[in-house]
Amino acid sequence: MIPWTLLGTANIPNNGGELRLSQREDNFSIHLKGVRGELMNSRVHCSELALAELGCAHIQGTEKSKVLVGGLGMGFTLAAALKATSKSSQVVVAELVPEVIEWNKGPLGECAGRPLDDDRVLVHLGDVAELFETKQATYDAVLLDVDNGPEGFTQADNNNLYSIESLQAIRQALHPGGVLAIWSAWHDPTFTLQLKKSGFKVKTKTVRAHRGKGSRHTIYLARKI
Ligand SMILES: C[S@@+](CC[C@H](N)C(=O)[O-])C[C@H]1O[C@@H](n2cnc3c(N)ncnc32)[C@H](O)[C@@H]1O
Repeated sequence: MIPWTLLGTANIPNNGGELRLSQREDNFSIHLKGVRGELMNSRVHCSELALAELGCAHIQGTEKSKVLVGGLGMGFTLAAALKATSKSSQVVVAELVPEVIEWNKGPLGECAGRPLDDDRVLVHLGDVAELFETKQATYDAVLLDVDNGPEGFTQADNNNLYSIESLQAIRQALHPGGVLAIWSAWHDPTFTLQLKKSGFKVKTKTVRAHRGKGSRHTIYLARKI
């Protein structure tokens, strides 16, 4: 068996631990050091694409739409958001870890077709939560995949993102009819209720990890009404 090669390490802000990028042939993995596990694997990305396809379905063909993707990871959701939106749209991608942006400028970037090179992309280096502080209606879609589900995994501070207060701030950052889409490795009915309490109309979709097979993931689709 060909061993994995460690390509890089990065400290996650706010004592989040260490993020590691490894490669085995054309397969890349981003994982958290120790027992915390894998955050992303390049072989398994169909549900990351579905996050953008489902979260941007309502703005297909719309001129000058604005989408926020948090975070970058391996760029699959970003690439799918660019594909799902018009040429006049803008896609902001928020990424907490500077090295993840650098890794995407290297060989890792090939996995999703180098979406960072697209002129429509604006990179925000920092916590995606910072972009909800203005509480101004700015985005038509917010696509969130920063943890493995609606609880802090990459860093403990991310727990706050899924609180009612934060979900209400995200709602304020959306235009009327805008959609908040959240990727999760599991389905949690309590979180659906939390979204409803925050003022969203909510649907969930089950999507497969790998071309119609593999693990079942959940996409929460929360519309601002
Ligand atoms: C699971 S990966 C995203 C995978 C991505 N959907 C893709 O298609 O490759 C999670 C990413 O979110 C970043 N991240 C974690 N917490 C964040 C936060 N609060 N703000 C911005 N980015 C964050 C991580 O560093 C990591 O790059």
